Amino acid sequence: MGIEGQHVVVIGGTSGIGLGAARVAAEAGARVTVASSSAAKVEAAAADLPAGVRGRVVDIRDEASLAALFDEPLDHLVLSPGDALRGGPVASLDLADAKAGLEVRFWGVIAAIKHALPQLAERGSISLTTGTVSVRPFPGGGISSGLAASIDGLARGLAVELAPRRVNAISFGFVETPMLDGFPEQLKSAAEAKQLVGRFGTVEEAGRAYLYLMENDYVTGTVLGVDGGAVLV
Ligand SMILES: NC(=O)c1ccc[n+]([C@@H]2O[C@H](COP(=O)([O-])OP(=O)(O)OC[C@H]3O[C@@H](n4cnc5c(N)ncnc54)[C@H](OP(=O)(O)O)[C@@H]3O)[C@@H](O)[C@H]2O)c1
Repeated sequence: MGIEGQHVVVIGGTSGIGLGAARVAAEAGARVTVASSSAAKVEAAAADLPAGVRGRVVDIRDEASLAALFDEPLDHLVLSPGDALRGGPVASLDLADAKAGLEVRFWGVIAAIKHALPQLAERGSISLTTGTVSVRPFPGGGISSGLAASIDGLARGLAVELAPRRVNAISFGFVETPMLDGFPEQLKSAAEAKQLVGRFGTVEEAGRAYLYLMENDYVTGTVLGVDGGAVLV
């Protein structure tokens, strides 16, 4: 079933992967709301996206802010928030900092689902965002792997808990977004060359994966790999 005329809310929809999801959903005829914490990013995204897309400021760490965001019915919730990665090698971990690193991507995601539920259509969907690091760890990335794997588990657990609403996650390899801006060019090129498809994914390819999950009423509890084969190398 298509999503024409349906209401899609994308938290993290003002940049990168979420912006791609919002654009693809709007082009498929959905009524789209993008939300994130920076008013400037919200304004810029709403101006850049197709006419009719609305922008809302929300801090996913703040329950009152989330309660205010979900003030009308929605059919699909896409969650792709991401802040600076924290963590590092466990032997030298600053625990307080590492815990703070879960506020947006783990607890924020759970809080957003909690506040969306009263407005989410009974046949609606929730799409989470995770990464191949859950199954392809890198040295010093144990905490990142734990976070990503927790999102995989959340998708499966909430699919059971919230049925018949559908809950899925998308596991990305590397997608070319502002989050990768800080990576040294040399490391980026080396990582791209290692991909089976020889390049990173685009935000449009990422967006099309969310569209698939929104549209296909028979898919729930799955972690969809959109990774250029990254788990095989
Ligand atoms: N890019 C990749 O290669 C890749 C691979 C695997 C997984 N992922 C995951 O995909 C997600 C999106 O990544 P991306 O590359 O698209 O990053 P991005 O371009 O930096 O986008 C992150 C989005 O999250 C929003 N955000 C940050 N803090 C927020 C908060 N407190 N409340 C609400 N929104 C908040 C940002 O807007 P504001 O700053 O305005 O809040 C922005 O819209 C992340 O969870 C990331 O870990 C990315």
